[in-house]
Amino acid sequence: MKIHVITVLPELLESPFGHSILKRAQQKGLVDVQVHNLRDYSNDKHKSVDDYAFGGGAGMVMMMEPIVNCLERLQEKEPFEEVIYMTPDGETFNQSMANSLSLKGNIAVLCGHYKGVDERIRQHFVTREISIGDYVLSGGELAAAVVCDAIIRLIPGVLNDETSALTDSFQDNLLAPPVYTRPAEFRGMKVPDILLSGNTPAVEKWRFEQALMRTRTRRPDLFARSGFDTE
Ligand code: ADE
Repeated sequence: MKIHVITVLPELLESPFGHSILKRAQQKGLVDVQVHNLRDYSNDKHKSVDDYAFGGGAGMVMMMEPIVNCLERLQEKEPFEEVIYMTPDGETFNQSMANSLSLKGNIAVLCGHYKGVDERIRQHFVTREISIGDYVLSGGELAAAVVCDAIIRLIPGVLNDETSALTDSFQDNLLAPPVYTRPAEFRGMKVPDILLSGNTPAVEKWRFEQALMRTRTRRPDLFARSGFDTE
């Protein structure tokens, strides 16, 4: 899979893509993440990427030309299956969106800044608008990193134990059950006996029940959609 991230602040993305699972996924050739500096696609001598809003008002707007130049240049090699725009007024990101995006071959992620992009970009070039939640960040970069992380860890081979993504919270509309590690007792706080029993079917049953309980109490909205809400 290829992910092209288009941004005015490429430095902000160095760390998220340069460590741990995302770094290893790139080293293994399972994903190719390319971060593009929008200023490199500006035709003007000051390398501007923004301008005043027509009609007045505070805040700058990202101009069409550098974005279109960038998208067109990158698509000379291979067309994008999705051009995603990160914006607080997009569709709220969730695990099922991560699942479907992880199956794509070549996508672009455009990070918004200032007051956002010229609306014509959204109308004519963007295929999908994504928000990571109902709050406003200083720019789309951190949101893009969140979305890319959620997608990349689902690509087969990225996680060492492939089943571990399948047992993540949200994969079946249930939150994950609690986990414990050694020691079995710490300052009088004990691990549930069942987990020490060696009885795998009983452990699985316990985990499933815990997941149901956790989802019902913490996320009744998710529980209602899970299909396990039989009452
Ligand atoms: N840009 C600013 N805030 C954002 C959000 N919540 N989600 C996606 N992109 C954003």
